[in-house]
Amino acid sequence: MASSPNGGSAEPFIEVTDLHRHFRMGREVVRALNGVSLTVQKGEFLGISGPSGSGKSTLLYLLGGLDRPTSGSIRVQGQEISGLDEDERAEYRREKIGFIFQMFNLMPTLTALENVEFPMFFSTVPPRERQQKSRQLLELVGLGERIDHRPTELSGGQQQRVAIARALVNDPAIILADEPTGNLDSRAGGEVMELLHELNRQGRTVIIVSHDPAVIAQTSRSIHLHDGCIQR
Ligand SMILES: Nc1ncnc2c1ncn2[C@@H]1O[C@H](COP(=O)(O)OP(=O)(O)O)[C@@H](O)[C@H]1O
Ligand SMILES: [Mg+2]
Repeated sequence: MASSPNGGSAEPFIEVTDLHRHFRMGREVVRALNGVSLTVQKGEFLGISGPSGSGKSTLLYLLGGLDRPTSGSIRVQGQEISGLDEDERAEYRREKIGFIFQMFNLMPTLTALENVEFPMFFSTVPPRERQQKSRQLLELVGLGERIDHRPTELSGGQQQRVAIARALVNDPAIILADEPTGNLDSRAGGEVMELLHELNRQGRTVIIVSHDPAVIAQTSRSIHLHDGCIQR
């Protein structure tokens, strides 16, 4: 049914069906996701809330192709990603996904500019162009004056903005943010949210995980996870 790209009913941008991710821990099986179904439209700003351990990060990692489900389907723009092998998932991430993490995940020995350039080191983009693009992205997130600083020389909010610039290098259609304000004070957190809103206004689909109700209140729609299931 979903085989015709133009005809018939429009396929959702992201369609998750009966998604399971189970982890075997010794004799026990942890059902991190236990039958999640969900659709996301292009350009949405979706919030995912829920208590610690409810499966939020697991869901985000699966959507971003960082992990594979135990069973179930994830379709993104009509492409089934749950069965992709490691190389195919890397390509999917490169083409479509920008990831932002709670702990920023910057390389401590690299400058802000080099951190943003990093995803392009493995591409065919010439060095000059890489630098120029990284500089532009750092200016976009308000760090044009900080390009030679290393992570330890930047505040938490500034580090997260470097991470956002890095996430934008491949011009992803989808931004996935896992507790991006979790390690920031409210002012820096507000600036990060404002940037995410701006990226959403540019047409990017943003999915943000947070257990902060004030953050979730800023999204256009939210789901609540509990024990690996979506609660109504
Ligand atoms: N790699 C893993 N190995 C074993 N258990 C895991 C792994 N990742 C997550 N889990 C378990 O799955 C559940 C959901 O984890 P997670 O998605 O990180 O929750 P949240 O992000 O909502 O706090 C937790 O019980 C967690 O301990
Ligand atoms: Mg988590």
